[in-house]
Amino acid sequence: MAPDATPTTVTITGAGGQIGYALLFRIAAGDMLGPDRPVRLRLLEIPQGMRAAEGAALELMDGAFPLLSDVEVTDDARTGFDGCNVALLVGARPRTAGMERADLLEANAGIFGPQGAAIAHAAAPDVRVLVVGNPANTNALIASASAPDVPAERFAALTRLDHNRALAQVAGALERPAASIARMTIWGNHSATQFPDVDHAVVDGMPARAALAARLGGKQAALTWLDETFIPRVAKRGAEIIEVRGSSSVGSAAAAAIDHVRDETAGVAWTSAAVVSHGEYGVPEGLICSFPVSSDGTGYRVIEGLEVDARARARIDASVAELVAERDAVAARGLL
Ligand code: NAD
Ligand code: LMR
Repeated sequence: MAPDATPTTVTITGAGGQIGYALLFRIAAGDMLGPDRPVRLRLLEIPQGMRAAEGAALELMDGAFPLLSDVEVTDDARTGFDGCNVALLVGARPRTAGMERADLLEANAGIFGPQGAAIAHAAAPDVRVLVVGNPANTNALIASASAPDVPAERFAALTRLDHNRALAQVAGALERPAASIARMTIWGNHSATQFPDVDHAVVDGMPARAALAARLGGKQAALTWLDETFIPRVAKRGAEIIEVRGSSSVGSAAAAAIDHVRDETAGVAWTSAAVVSHGEYGVPEGLICSFPVSSDGTGYRVIEGLEVDARARARIDASVAELVAERDAVAARGLL
């Protein structure tokens, strides 16, 4: 693409926060949309976050990024999403002491509902939305429900971080580079119920289950490692990072969001993303659920036709049941 092409407008909510700060400079450098694609950044914050976002905008200016055509900071959603092609919804209401999960869902519905409506009103016709702010799957569902004229397929929630964590854990167990592993899958919710699944994964072309059995001393040893170490490690990695760092993951989350958009746009044979279900693998229609997905550059589609054994089925069902409960909790409060 010619360097003078029309810039792509990328809106980042919560841009004054930690993940926002980690995202902005990589997007401006072309890591997300490619080295020939100029970008216009719109930083959307709440009034309390405006100074931090304005400071980040000053630093973006100081970076003199050749691809960065323009930066605007605003606390008005319609302005923030005006002409937006890629929306990264990062800003969310964190859980605070004494807050029930339903309260958290409701508080976030108050953010993602209006933002979905503003996207429907102001964004470009080709807008794509990635929700990072937790609870990401249900926040994406709420945003999509508030934008009925935008196809539901344009809304996704981030499970690429879980996917990357799963690659890293298998790579560590096999002492192989993460890049040697393909066809990893995260199913379900971006929560501790998620199912990181190696059943279809390959390592340098060899089935990952066989590679793990060879490395760990047999099929049963591999299964024990998967059930007792790998799955809980990946599913609870967010909590582990919070405990060790003192706050939730930032650099890895921003990197995963960039991976998600880059692969969707450039094309990818197999990754994981939480996208709207059309009933694939028995997941109720309309839920935003993590699946194995591919993209030909025009959007993620669920990879269908995989064999799901009883062990996998039970784990997928458990995470989907949590998504159903989240959806029902917000619906019961009239938020869907
Ligand atoms: P942070 O607290 O550093 O930043 C959040 C920012 O959002 C703040 O600047 C705040 O002012 C802003 N904000 C709040 N409400 C807003 C609104 N209505 N509109 C615009 N901005 C708003 O938090 P962080 O570390 O950047 O994390 C952001 C979110 O990402 C959290 O919900 C976190 O749990 C989630 N997260 C998701 C994943 C994932 O894999 N899906 C991974 C890590 C973190
Ligand atoms: C993560 O997976 O690191 C985050 O979603 C954790 C969190 O609660 O913010």
